[in-house]
Amino acid sequence: MTLDPAFQVFLGGCRDRVERALDRWLPGERTCPERLHQAMRYAALGAGKRVRPVLVYAAGQALGARLDCLDAAACAVELIHAYSLVHDDLPAMDDDALRRGRATCHMAYDEATAILVGDALQTLAFRVLCDDEALCVGHAERVRMIRVLAHASGSRGMAGGQALDIDATGQDIDLAQLENLHIHKTGALVLASVRLGALAAGAGDDPRLPGLERYAKCIGLAFQVRDDVLDVEGDTAVIGKTRGKDAAAHKATYPALIGLDAAREMATRLIDEALDNLADFDANADPLRHLAGYVVGRKR
Ligand code: IPE
Ligand code: IPE
Ligand code: MG
Ligand code: MG
Ligand code: MG
Repeated sequence: MTLDPAFQVFLGGCRDRVERALDRWLPGERTCPERLHQAMRYAALGAGKRVRPVLVYAAGQALGARLDCLDAAACAVELIHAYSLVHDDLPAMDDDALRRGRATCHMAYDEATAILVGDALQTLAFRVLCDDEALCVGHAERVRMIRVLAHASGSRGMAGGQALDIDATGQDIDLAQLENLHIHKTGALVLASVRLGALAAGAGDDPRLPGLERYAKCIGLAFQVRDDVLDVEGDTAVIGKTRGKDAAAHKATYPALIGLDAAREMATRLIDEALDNLADFDANADPLRHLAGYVVGRKR
């Protein structure tokens, strides 16, 4: 897919910003315990797309924030995401050997280290929201941000979605159950990204936020539908993960339940619906608009 040139610049800028923030917050490789810190950096600084941070920046900018006020929120949500991937790849879960084009954390290190990497990345995310000095909001807003991220990460958010995913593996589930699973395992953190961007912008009570949240719900679901599609038709060298693992593991996915064409159509429909919810926003929301197209058109 060809990306809008201005959006491409925005994307690159956001990725640089969040990668610098991650680098600053992650303890150095020589800091004791060295192996754990090396593994944390390996997991968090690998070649991720940084979609959730980009959403933080794009939502915050749409609501008038400066990008430097958004680094902490972008960094925090990416740390949670990186942790979720490390645990998702463990033998007890998806048992994957390839992530972001290289060995998964437990393969490059070992299982015990990977479990601890997840634990430590998760807690670091909350430390960033507590202590980052560039975050331009006061204590009350920080508490709201911590609440949003905790809710989205926990048993009523991503971790709960992962539990539903495991329960559904090898089972016959219906479309409503699959949607609920995807909304939790992936949608929750995507929605949190937009909410965190809004809170860091000091716009937690902006009347346009509900529209932005509806946008995020569509994007979150579409993102996981696309992930499911790429597991079927993607190229391992491009997606950086082993293609075909979902079918081999009898995972509950959209292509498995409704077929590949219907899954692709569904993602496109969701993106149109996402865009309809940005009607109240001006050109500052253009990155959000382009991001919607990126989510369904992406090859990785
Ligand atoms: C993969 O997420 C897991 C899902 C929730 C679909 P990403 O596709 O955002 O993975 P990275 O961060 O780019 O590696
Ligand atoms: C993972 O979904 C969602 C998470 C919470 C990490 P998947 O299991 O489909 O993600 P990939 O395909 O391994 O990246
Ligand atoms: Mg999984
Ligand atoms: Mg997986
Ligand atoms: Mg997947």
